Amino acid sequence: MANIKVAESAGFCFGVKIAVDSAVEAGKKFGKAFTNGPIIHNKQVVQFLEGLNVKELKSYDQLKRGDTILIRSHGVPPKTERMLNQLGVNVIDATCPFVKKVHEKVKQLVEEGYYVVIIGEEGHPEVIGILGHLEEAGGKGIVVENMEDLIRKFPRRNKVGVVAQTTQNEEFFEEAVGYIASNVEELKVFNTICDATSVRQEEVKRLAKEVDVMIIIGGKHSGNTRRLAQISKALNPNTYHVEKADELDSEWFKNAENIGVSAGASTPDWIIKEVVERIREITG
Ligand code: F3S
Repeated sequence: MANIKVAESAGFCFGVKIAVDSAVEAGKKFGKAFTNGPIIHNKQVVQFLEGLNVKELKSYDQLKRGDTILIRSHGVPPKTERMLNQLGVNVIDATCPFVKKVHEKVKQLVEEGYYVVIIGEEGHPEVIGILGHLEEAGGKGIVVENMEDLIRKFPRRNKVGVVAQTTQNEEFFEEAVGYIASNVEELKVFNTICDATSVRQEEVKRLAKEVDVMIIIGGKHSGNTRRLAQISKALNPNTYHVEKADELDSEWFKNAENIGVSAGASTPDWIIKEVVERIREITG
């Protein structure tokens, strides 16, 4: 029987718990509510919420006065908040406090005269929200996704401030900051990667080196899960990213004595349990 080690940090983070609990409460209290996009990148949880009549909004045009909308943990630009207030809808703000901290730091950097570099994924809802706060504060900046992107877009500015999308890869963040530091006169850095992300990434690094096979569980569209899988794969080529138990292939576990398991911030505990159970069955 193989030895299965499940990362302590696997599964729902604090911010996702707040968002999912608020959505369940909204469904029960109002009998109907919307979320501004999938509440988390997990189909099973989205389906569960649909059962409570909490549905993903396809367009803000769908909203009518008196409707309830939950802003998910990624946050939104200030102009979206204003628009929702003008529509007269009931807004439940489940923006993660760590994401709100990025908004505050961006505002501070703009007030202090910095050009802002956001280390994050272009087009990700959290980054769209951060850019909205940058614009609101009257600042200018760019989003960089990788070193190539940073070098290509590098601003000719003397004062540069840096923040990160909360779920960014720590190593890329450090590399990017090092590059910026050697190319500007003045630099101010806020490492806004949230604690839940740093702890999870560190644990995956440790586990990936110790085991024969690593399984990372989470939505294929979940950025933080994909980054976990990349980090693990770089250290252990026998890394597989699955959304649920029936994707596991027995071939992966041939001769494996130690198996590591971790999961993204939007993966519910019951899915992790199902995957671990299935690995037990496969490995006898
Ligand atoms: Fe918040 Fe970090 Fe989770 S930003 S939503 S605690 S991954």
